[in-house]
Amino acid sequence: MRQLRSILLTGGAGFIGSTLVRHLLRAEGLERLIVLDKLTYAGNRGNLIGPDQDPRFGFVEGDIVDRELTASLLHEHRITGVFNLAAESHVERSLDSTSTFLHSNVIGTSHLVETCRAAAVPLLQCSTDEVYGSVSPPERFVEIRPLNPTTPYAASKAAADFFCLAATRCHEQDIVITRSSNNYGPRQHTEKLIPSLVHAAFHDQPVPIHGDGMQIRDWMHVDDHCRGMITAFLRGHAGAVYLLGGQCERTNLGIARSVLEILAKPSSLITHVADRPGNDRRYAVDFSKAVAGLSWRPQHRFRASFPLVVREIAANLHRQGAA
Ligand SMILES: NC(=O)c1ccc[n+]([C@@H]2O[C@H](COP(=O)([O-])OP(=O)(O)OC[C@H]3O[C@@H](n4cnc5c(N)ncnc54)[C@H](O)[C@@H]3O)[C@@H](O)[C@H]2O)c1
Repeated sequence: MRQLRSILLTGGAGFIGSTLVRHLLRAEGLERLIVLDKLTYAGNRGNLIGPDQDPRFGFVEGDIVDRELTASLLHEHRITGVFNLAAESHVERSLDSTSTFLHSNVIGTSHLVETCRAAAVPLLQCSTDEVYGSVSPPERFVEIRPLNPTTPYAASKAAADFFCLAATRCHEQDIVITRSSNNYGPRQHTEKLIPSLVHAAFHDQPVPIHGDGMQIRDWMHVDDHCRGMITAFLRGHAGAVYLLGGQCERTNLGIARSVLEILAKPSSLITHVADRPGNDRRYAVDFSKAVAGLSWRPQHRFRASFPLVVREIAANLHRQGAA
């Protein structure tokens, strides 16, 4: 049985990682939580202010590619589980250059798989529904759907998943993979869709929408994602993949309109710009395997939670402006 007693979390200074830190520190039986993060442009040590005062918390600046470092952390802290969230995560950056995506997402994950195997430590690999490419209605992604990544980011995440799955087959290694839909929540980098929309609207600037804006994403609150990963770590089968989704399909245009409405800004700020290469039309997740196998389902209601997140991002911008 897997245990949360002493956890190594990679990428903990990022958006989802910093939320997972808060969930893990509340989890029953947790005695030690080590965050390993390279602090790339996307990592922010400030995201960990508060939790870093907990005596069970430790922070190490470093790269998941560094096998000596990860092996020594597993040994020194008698780690009972690794959650791998460290990754280059921005699709648009992957269109310009793929080397950091190969480094962190592919080589980093495969090195971590080897280190975990040598130490017999279970690994939770955090992946994405984007590995499947696009899906037309009324279909939704199911775990066994063939992978069809359409961007370098998704290709690197799919490659990481294959290294994990190969290790479970060849070595019976204890790895569980979760594939989540798009997340919304606090502490997300401003380059991502929702914070960038809020940023533009807050400053009364044009709110850019790629193409016709009818691309559909299945939005899930980051808290639901974090609960899902912890549950998958505790209850998931070794070698299994679990899709996690928010049951909340929205077009990008619809998201932009909601942001403007919440911030009481005119919809005339919306400005259509050229579509992104490889921009998938629709992501939609069937998470019934997680319901049946993990007793997990999303709890947040978009209508109630989304305005809170938008207002929190705007309030941070207000504070920054006042500082
Ligand atoms: N954001 C989403 O909606 C979403 C959805 C599904 C899956 N995911 C996955 O969740 C994970 C976290 O995503 P996020 O949105 O929080 O990303 P993020 O960019 O906010 O955070 C990534 C963190 O990883 C760190 N990092 C990058 N490369 C590293 C390396 N080589 N070694 C150590 N640390 C490194 C960064 O410094 C950063 O703190 C990623 O694996 C991503 O693919 C994200």
